[in-house]
Amino acid sequence: MNTAMRGESRQDVGRSEQRGGGVDLAAARNAGIQESLQRRSVHSRYAHPPYCEVKSYLVNGELRPWTGEVMAIHSAIPSTKGETTLLGSIPKLSPAAANEIVESAAQAYDEGLGVWPSMSAEERIVSVEACLELFQAKREEVVHLLVWEIGKTVSDAEKEFDRTISYVRDTVRAYREMVGKGRGAIASSAGAITTAPGPRGVTLCMGPSNYPLNESFTTMFPALLVGNPVILKPAKQGVLLLAPMLEAMQRSFPPGVVSVLFGDGLEVVPPVMSSGKVDSFAFIGSSGAARAIMNQHPSAHTLHKVLGLGAKNPGVVLPSADLDKVVDEVVAGALTFNGQRCTALKILFVHRSIAEQFVEKLSTAVSALPQGLPWEKGISITPLYEPGKVAKMGEYVEDAVAYGARIVNEGGGRSNGALYTPAVLYPVTPEMKIYRDEQFGPVVPVAVFEDLSEIVGYVKTSTVRQQASIFGNDMEELAPLAERLGRIVPRVNINAQCQRGPDFVSFGALKDAGLGELSIEKALEAFSVERVKAQK
Ligand code: G3H
Repeated sequence: MNTAMRGESRQDVGRSEQRGGGVDLAAARNAGIQESLQRRSVHSRYAHPPYCEVKSYLVNGELRPWTGEVMAIHSAIPSTKGETTLLGSIPKLSPAAANEIVESAAQAYDEGLGVWPSMSAEERIVSVEACLELFQAKREEVVHLLVWEIGKTVSDAEKEFDRTISYVRDTVRAYREMVGKGRGAIASSAGAITTAPGPRGVTLCMGPSNYPLNESFTTMFPALLVGNPVILKPAKQGVLLLAPMLEAMQRSFPPGVVSVLFGDGLEVVPPVMSSGKVDSFAFIGSSGAARAIMNQHPSAHTLHKVLGLGAKNPGVVLPSADLDKVVDEVVAGALTFNGQRCTALKILFVHRSIAEQFVEKLSTAVSALPQGLPWEKGISITPLYEPGKVAKMGEYVEDAVAYGARIVNEGGGRSNGALYTPAVLYPVTPEMKIYRDEQFGPVVPVAVFEDLSEIVGYVKTSTVRQQASIFGNDMEELAPLAERLGRIVPRVNINAQCQRGPDFVSFGALKDAGLGELSIEKALEAFSVERVKAQK
């Protein structure tokens, strides 16, 4: 393939570059990073930076060499030469290349008569399974890129890879069952009825930077299986990890069935959308971006959409809660991957009677979280990968402090380079920005409540309705609240953090949090329309 890859597979090259002015972490300014190096307990195969120049793009079944402009991709982990480390580059595709991509996808679909929708379900499954086999061999390269590009810990990056492959394998099983179920003819007044899931058409899948593999492939593969050609547009960051997988996609699918739209979204998405040839749009990201992209479609109102957008999931701590257990769960819920999860607990409401005690335990637990480099074993808090994220966290803290909140954990809110020590803010009140804004980072706001109606009021007036967590041991108090919140948001978690999994349950959203439901089975339904044959 036309992808130049250095690093894991060519360790010597990687090491000599490190010495020769690439990454010298001992010289990095980040104190947390320096400390990490002393500890030595690292996944050493990931400790040197990967380097990867993507020199081709996937269009019409070929890995076409790209000789035009490129976009540099950096890691937030510093090098001796600056604040960031250069990890490689991707093609900055032109609008003309984007046009060719959408045209090839439209041909592969050909209004339902094209090569991909014409294949049998079993034939498509063979292609998908072949692709998964080839992906599996790339696990280490993908994990390495995930670790450096978005600062995900090795164990979380491995989990993301493994969970995604399992998800697609389970989707294949569910698809077989779905197709099997539809085979029999049902006698009815309209005659003998047979049904089968059929595709909707060309699907544009745009994944997010925080779960770039999982949240792209959990829409892309269900869409593919039911017969839709897919154009995959990766996010600005979390994109290089696709490089080792390009060849697998090229080898496994007929021309036009899978294309990868590299480049600046503002340049390459408008030609694709305005062509009118996209039938389904799967998007995980912000509401504003989703709206802007959808509106480029000439028939935005009939464009089929599956959207995962903002969230501000609250965690409610009732007086009956076992605080030690709650703190462990809350810390995981709020700060796994530095709080950069759509499902993260983004505000806590604690009953006034236990608030001081809870905050003390919480701040002790947060202060104990090990910070450092993502390849170090046991690390929780890692550098924030988005430029400007540290400053954004600082703004939220400053605003809250100006309105009377305090940072309660020692060292909270300190930053050094891209490493930000999580800040627990208390007491948070409605006039503070963080009361409603989705911080998507390591700031944990704690608000106080006295009456459960305040919680119901908060959730009811939220426009981003995804999930809520309730912690407590008195079922008489907990159950009615869970019942009420469960009528406002699609999922309530009792004594557990908010989360997407397990993947067989519905992951849904209401209002500005998104549209449609995803689970292994529901994703297949989301990208298909049942085809019915009625014969008298
Ligand atoms: O960012 C949103 C992810 O889908 C969260 O998934 O709850 O399994 O970490 P998770």
